[in-house]
Amino acid sequence: MRDSSFSKAFLWGAAAASAQIEGGWKDGGRTPSIWDMATKKQVKHGETCHTACDHFHRWKEDVALMKEMGLKSYRFSISWSRVIPEEGKVNPEGLKFYSDLVDELIANGIEPLVTIFHWDLPMWVYKKGGWLSESIVPLFREYTKVVVEALSDRVKWWMTINEPGCFIMNGYMQGAHAPFKHDYLALSKLTRNCMLAHAASVKAIRQYAKQPVKVGIAFSTGAWIPENETPAEIEKARRLSMEEGSGLIGNRWWMDPMLAGKPVRAYGIYASHEKDMAEIAQPLDFIGLNIYTSYNYADWGSNQRPAPGTPRNALGWVIDERCMYWNVRFVYERYKLPIMITENGLAAHDMVSLDGKVHDPKRADFIKRYLGQLKRAANEGIPLLGYQHWSVMDNFEWAEGYDPRFGLVYVDFTTGKRIIKDSAWDYKHIIETNGAEL
Ligand code: NOJ
Repeated sequence: MRDSSFSKAFLWGAAAASAQIEGGWKDGGRTPSIWDMATKKQVKHGETCHTACDHFHRWKEDVALMKEMGLKSYRFSISWSRVIPEEGKVNPEGLKFYSDLVDELIANGIEPLVTIFHWDLPMWVYKKGGWLSESIVPLFREYTKVVVEALSDRVKWWMTINEPGCFIMNGYMQGAHAPFKHDYLALSKLTRNCMLAHAASVKAIRQYAKQPVKVGIAFSTGAWIPENETPAEIEKARRLSMEEGSGLIGNRWWMDPMLAGKPVRAYGIYASHEKDMAEIAQPLDFIGLNIYTSYNYADWGSNQRPAPGTPRNALGWVIDERCMYWNVRFVYERYKLPIMITENGLAAHDMVSLDGKVHDPKRADFIKRYLGQLKRAANEGIPLLGYQHWSVMDNFEWAEGYDPRFGLVYVDFTTGKRIIKDSAWDYKHIIETNGAEL
């Protein structure tokens, strides 16, 4: 095998989240999350996540598929209401589900990476005020403790929260995600509670971990791409990406306080106050980045419009792989922490062909394009820990339901049947060669 700039320990893998794949919403002592309560009008085609991929019952088969695809790691999240179905009550059956999953992954040579919160807030926490109430901080700490005590003898990699900006903006301001609120005035409070909960979780992971662990968080992120690679253009793109114009779900709002202990003021309000900084900026071991598209074309303060016919995914997001390199570079330059790509992938309208297979050449091409750019960052010496493709299998894309398919594995949502897509075999080859041919 030729040499690769990706380290030998590079964690090639794929990701998913509890609400998006598990189903079994009333099984094994679980109580509903805010996503189970979404109405027919709130999710496209009136679909629900009650069954999703039925991973709760088919997890062994799913781990076998991961092994077949050559994955070396798997990023998944824990359903809080499966583990703590009501206040003060731990559900051993819920913990056993995750513990068995971890055992199965390890037995198949797949490193488990755990996200503690990926948006499926338990209804009982929501009723106590959810993210709007500071009472979530001790609740999240306790939940973290329970999970860490159960799994950290085997799980080394931990992420506290998935995409804080995204679930707060979509769920509480724009009303597009559960709990479907339009409460712009609560932004400051939501941000503060979320950051304090993250900090409490980081401390709990370190306190209760049964072995040395790596702790991080996964951000929804992006970057402006310089028009050309002159120092002036690069500086302009860096400034736009990291200091201005990156908006609520952008970089600075979340990263400056949590990664650098810097309070941020925007929209005439403080996202975070000086007095909270020492608590919020808990030292982390890595930064997780979910990277899909470039900021140039997103509606976040940019006047640029993509040329007609610019390639887009099935959700309308522009495909421009250069964001992978620039995003990683700008974030690394500012915060100097190792980076894990915790998500990246292509939504498409994949279908089963007459030959019974799922041919997805666009996804295979997408993976190579984006990984090529990640390799550029690796070549330049930026410490990269892994790449988790979104997603391991087609799943519930929140308010978009099941139409946009992101998986390496196709899922028939009526029968539950799985089919490994063509792109997964290409990805397998990349994994086997450690990216040497990218
Ligand atoms: C971000 C989220 O973390 C994940 O849940 C979602 O499905 C993907 N990106 C695609 O939108």
